[in-house]
Amino acid sequence: MSQVEKIAPPRHIAIIMDGNGRWARKRGLPRTAGHKAGAEAFRRTANYCRTLGVEYLTVYAFSTENWRRSEEEVGGIMKLLAAYLKEALRDMQKNHVRFRFFGDLSRLSPDLQKLCLEAQERSSKFDEVQVNFCLNYGGRDEIVRAVRRFAADVAAGKADASALTEDVFSNYLDSAGVPDPELVIRPSGELRTSNFLPWQTVYSEFVYMNVLWPDFSPADLDSAIEEFHRRNRRFGGV
Ligand code: IPE
Ligand code: IPE
Ligand code: MG
Repeated sequence: MSQVEKIAPPRHIAIIMDGNGRWARKRGLPRTAGHKAGAEAFRRTANYCRTLGVEYLTVYAFSTENWRRSEEEVGGIMKLLAAYLKEALRDMQKNHVRFRFFGDLSRLSPDLQKLCLEAQERSSKFDEVQVNFCLNYGGRDEIVRAVRRFAADVAAGKADASALTEDVFSNYLDSAGVPDPELVIRPSGELRTSNFLPWQTVYSEFVYMNVLWPDFSPADLDSAIEEFHRRNRRFGGV
């Protein structure tokens, strides 16, 4: 048992699963092979989070900007997502993972949308770990969609614009009801957020790591959690 298992992990960990393409390139493999290995890293990490007792794991799987990639790469990622969701539906009674999806699912194929809805509905009764899958997710897009929903409620007389607070607004976001992540991890060495959870991470601790996502191991998660516990979170106080 490692040291960190004795320290309480953060309730909510968010991960930008980055570096699949570079991992594949280093091995002379197609980018899709990197995404396949990345899906394995996700399975490993989600299982480990469940062992540690993490309550929420939010993962960035596909951004609103990732449509700029080749049709072949996007198709490969979508296929892997569908395969993963089918597997999750099959193993649901064993794994007890609760699924939520953040992002604009309407741009996904009808089949993939159906799998997402089914996974969300059929897992809603589980309470071990909640995985929030960010799919066709963009933080700015999430805020714009929330504003649209709020404006529609105002127009329908169901909400009062002058009474809007941060808490009320949070309930219009995809992450409604989910506490903000305490820790955000970005592997791959990039030092940016790439449109990931801008509203929810204003006071999160960011840990950037020089490991490519397909190589990400439980030991890497341990070291990110250790780093998190070394930080002094002040929330604007002293
Ligand atoms: C992350 O890995 C997966 C997605 C963005 C879908 P990348 O594919 O971005 O890998 P790099 O950054 O090119 O190495
Ligand atoms: C962020 O990674 C999105 C996901 C991991 C899904 P990107 O590889 O798309 O981000 P940039 O292009 O390096 O900013
Ligand atoms: Mg990348």
